[in-house]
Amino acid sequence: MLRTHTCGELRPAQVGQAATLCGWVQKIRDKGSILWIDLRDRYGITQLILEEGAAAQELFQQARTLGREYVVQACGVVVERASKNSHIPTGEVELRVQTLTVLSPAKLPPFLIEDETDGSEDLRMQYRYLDLRRAPMQRNLMLRHRLLQQTRTYLEQQQFIEVETPMLIKSTPEGARDFVVPSRIHPGHFYALPQSPQTFKQLLMVAGFDRYYQLVKCFRDEDLRADRQPEFTQIDCELTFVTQETIFHIFEGLVKHLFQCIKGITLEKFQRLSYAEAIRLYGTDKPDLRVGMPFIELNSLAQGKGFRVFDEAALVVGICVPGGAGYTRKQLEAWTEFVKKPPLGAKGLVYVKYNSDGSIKSSVDKFFSRQQLSAWTKAAQAQPGDMLLIVAGEVQATRQALDALRLKIGDALGLRAKEKFAPLWVVDFPLLQWDAEAQRYTPMHHPFTAPQQEDIPLLEEKPEAVHAHAYDMVINGVELGGGSIRIHEKALQAKMFKVLGLRKEEAKQQFGFLMDAFEYGAPPHGGIALGFDRLCALLGGTDSIRAFIAFPKNNAGRDVMIGAPSTISEAQLNALHII
Ligand code: AMO
Repeated sequence: MLRTHTCGELRPAQVGQAATLCGWVQKIRDKGSILWIDLRDRYGITQLILEEGAAAQELFQQARTLGREYVVQACGVVVERASKNSHIPTGEVELRVQTLTVLSPAKLPPFLIEDETDGSEDLRMQYRYLDLRRAPMQRNLMLRHRLLQQTRTYLEQQQFIEVETPMLIKSTPEGARDFVVPSRIHPGHFYALPQSPQTFKQLLMVAGFDRYYQLVKCFRDEDLRADRQPEFTQIDCELTFVTQETIFHIFEGLVKHLFQCIKGITLEKFQRLSYAEAIRLYGTDKPDLRVGMPFIELNSLAQGKGFRVFDEAALVVGICVPGGAGYTRKQLEAWTEFVKKPPLGAKGLVYVKYNSDGSIKSSVDKFFSRQQLSAWTKAAQAQPGDMLLIVAGEVQATRQALDALRLKIGDALGLRAKEKFAPLWVVDFPLLQWDAEAQRYTPMHHPFTAPQQEDIPLLEEKPEAVHAHAYDMVINGVELGGGSIRIHEKALQAKMFKVLGLRKEEAKQQFGFLMDAFEYGAPPHGGIALGFDRLCALLGGTDSIRAFIAFPKNNAGRDVMIGAPSTISEAQLNALHII
């Protein structure tokens, strides 16, 4: 045994006992006749003490040669500390060292291995193994681990079985580009890495597995953002003989279980909003409900009164900022700038202050009477002291601008506290969306999503009016997961492919295996996938999922530590028939 205890273990009960610890040198304090070393491992920090007289001169000299991040073994006796440290669990004791062994020397690390580090993001990514030594990163990966364990525990209790599906597959359409892998044995042929195990999990339902789950890596070649990585992990699930309600019950239950056992937080029942309501009330299909301030559409009240900006707009829409009448001109100017600047590009921002004394002051006083303005404040259910902020223009861009402003003001008002959680299900998504560039319909989720029964007759004549049996789970403005009830009939699946502009042969070539399977007794089924990295970030209280992935890619999709992607040798290219 190289050690008898970890660096987080010793307590007053062990005083007087011999102990051997191993770990990394966090800090050395040399007071001449006394020398302290903070020794760190995954479990904590223990203070080592060397005192002249008590420690041989040689040992003292040896300790003075140690540097930060040296790996050492220290044998000694546990003693009570003269001055105790109540901030760490081992703070009442220290180890009086009798022998020290350097197990591995260390170069000076390029940044501080401390909670607050001086290392830039790039440097930390390059030396990720050093970054991961820091306590916050260790905590993040521990949180991830506990979430993995608890997810498995919960799903196990619900009779799910974990099945692994292949990584070398044929393209699965989830709306992003595929990463492809050339085949050496089949010249000119490629595997794709899965964007999700979608078709496989459906085939597992046909195979009768009834409840499947997998904590699975997915790969998508898309633009990166704080909440997107080219490879990420899903809690992927599929169930047979269930309605949407059963799926909501089980996965609301999963998330509640995780919040309860990891954070001790009891989540309220998830709210529900239809896609159409979410867009109308918050301008987005992933609203942050912590913020409140729903949109108020003002077209009928504000148009036709001679104010050109409003009259020419397809949408006039505002929010009511509680207590906002007190905001200064400077603040209003900053927000106006914010909505005008790219990428939002709104024409401007109109304000209506409903002052505490009942008077109304607005930036459009010239065009609207007090009575007209008061009709707006009434529509918004504004209280004295509130302020309306209004944007007008083309529908989508206007909603986008007001959504962004709503979140910004939510931040300013402290309404987006990290410890507060507002979960909801967004339901009744449209089945399809029109892709103007490609001049065709594309699925809003994926092509296996079932249309709602009563809309099926519209599928060919009015595809945009068809609602899907699809849903998203949204928490605090983050799309945590999405899923649907699937099509399980060959004829309907074929019709869906047709609406998507796939010729019969194309559909057969790409998805023939699934269509064939539907001919051998396919049960009704549905499922969901939750973004596991996003779940970690949400519970860990950060926006970026990178902090919860041991070895993530940087903003440009590179792993700067190992240097990937990289070129490969001509011989390799030749063998893969690429040149
Ligand atoms: P979807 O494409 O909505 O659904 O993905 C499910 C969830 O995965 C997470 N996610 C990501 N997380 C990090 N980086 C990414 N690049 C990334 N892309 C997606 C999101 C998202 O909500 N097969 C369907 C699920 C189903 O229908 O059952 C699917 O993959 O949190």
